[in-house]
Amino acid sequence: MEMMLVTPGESKIIVGMQWGDEGKGKGVDYICCEMDADVVVRYNGGNNAGHSVWVNGKLIHLHFIPSGVVNQKCLALMAAGELIEPFAFGKELQYVQQVGGIDTTGRIMMDPRMSVIMFYHRVEDMALEIIRKRGEEGEVIGTTAKGVGPAYADLAKRADIRLQDLLGDPSKFSETFRRKLTEKLFYFYNDLGLKKDDDKDIDELRDILKALKKKDEEGCSELIEAGLIDRGVFDYSRYYCPKNGLRADVLIEEYLNAAIELENQVQVCDLAFEVQKLHYAGKNILFEGGQGSLLDVRYGTTPFVTSCHPIAGGACIGTPVGPLFFENSEVIGVGKLFTTRVGNGPFPTESEEFGRIVRGNVGEAGAEYGTTTGRQRRCGYLDMTILRSTAMWSGVNRFLGTKLDVCDSLKEIRICTHYELDGEKLYLMPTKTEELNQVVPVYDTLPGWGEDTTKARSWNDLPLNARRFFNRVMEEIQMPIEGANEVKPWGIGNGPDREQLIKL
Ligand code: IMP
Ligand code: MG
Repeated sequence: MEMMLVTPGESKIIVGMQWGDEGKGKGVDYICCEMDADVVVRYNGGNNAGHSVWVNGKLIHLHFIPSGVVNQKCLALMAAGELIEPFAFGKELQYVQQVGGIDTTGRIMMDPRMSVIMFYHRVEDMALEIIRKRGEEGEVIGTTAKGVGPAYADLAKRADIRLQDLLGDPSKFSETFRRKLTEKLFYFYNDLGLKKDDDKDIDELRDILKALKKKDEEGCSELIEAGLIDRGVFDYSRYYCPKNGLRADVLIEEYLNAAIELENQVQVCDLAFEVQKLHYAGKNILFEGGQGSLLDVRYGTTPFVTSCHPIAGGACIGTPVGPLFFENSEVIGVGKLFTTRVGNGPFPTESEEFGRIVRGNVGEAGAEYGTTTGRQRRCGYLDMTILRSTAMWSGVNRFLGTKLDVCDSLKEIRICTHYELDGEKLYLMPTKTEELNQVVPVYDTLPGWGEDTTKARSWNDLPLNARRFFNRVMEEIQMPIEGANEVKPWGIGNGPDREQLIKL
């Protein structure tokens, strides 16, 4: 038998290097074209993520589906490390197809081992924040209320429901769901202490359902406005049961319908094997992380983090592939050339004054408002302690700096080169989150360029001071260890449009 020799395809990983929203979506889009990617794998997170990408002149917001889906040639793989919420996924798919005009036929694949975000996880997410607000348990995190934390917690507790359970024997699924729902409702009212007093007509769980309705309606406004979805689907009072909180029968029926719908639209198969087959068939694969490195559940600014691993190692666990799969690969780190975050937690270089200059207006492309929650993002100066640390955590070897144009109007640019804490210089993030509230950022001030950079298409088109600034960033980002691998420049983003990316 004659053997065909095929060279394995190329693989790359793209990671966010700050608190998310670095502009990975656009990076993915560009890299897909550049490496001629056949496959994009999303390896972590859930619909707490928000990636904005341009399609046919329209800005599309993706949450679950890998950004590569906008590229007709690409397969979009949702690996086991990602979470799935079948109702929200169904709506996102409809949005991508009907608002974005994208044909997804045969292009979306899911791993059967994905954990499912159940409706009770969403309730739990909000309930936990209510309890934290009351000061009874830890600090308010400012989660996206998508149920991500509780769903991953159940995975760690070995108490999750998997996609394959949802798609399997309906009676077995119903039985499991009923049992877990009963346990959760007991936990909400008895352990967490959600208030319920029938005589006074108080039920905090019922209030949560109303809050979720409001959030979901806002999140699906484009589908509602286009008349593609009925507002009524967000009326979660149909799940409400005055006696014990939530009605299992209504939820089960909807889950089983969603399961049929999902099976009609996507292919569910062992992606661990699929990825290897594609790789050895010579296909080029881009691994896309959701969120940013500082939201990593272990290495980020705990407890103000998400519940999974956005760092590059997350691709190994979430897909899964072994580390040698990425031998000689590029790990492209994406970092804004200033800093933003949504949600609570320490932020050493935060500056309200700077925020007022760079934030822009709601609804504008690139404006600093959350893609998933619409919240105003907190803004601050570029922090090299962050970029240096997160480059190290993921073995970043190429750097994409985004939103250079946002700095165009600044007379001077401040860069935090390191922190000081108790007379000591810190070049890397301290391991204790509390210390980030105590560190004093040390800045260097560089002259601005006071010119529009949005039309630059090459390095030489950039003003001299902009080039000096970027070179300085590349100098500062390196690991403080002699002989360590160098982080090389990959590109500069200078505007929201597809062409506004200077490849280096
Ligand atoms: P959760 O992931 O919804 O539990 O939220 C935990 C924290 O992570 C909150 O501060 C969120 O705002 C933040 N977060 C989660 N996903 C993203 C993202 O994709 N971009 C930016 N922040 C995020
Ligand atoms: Mg985002």
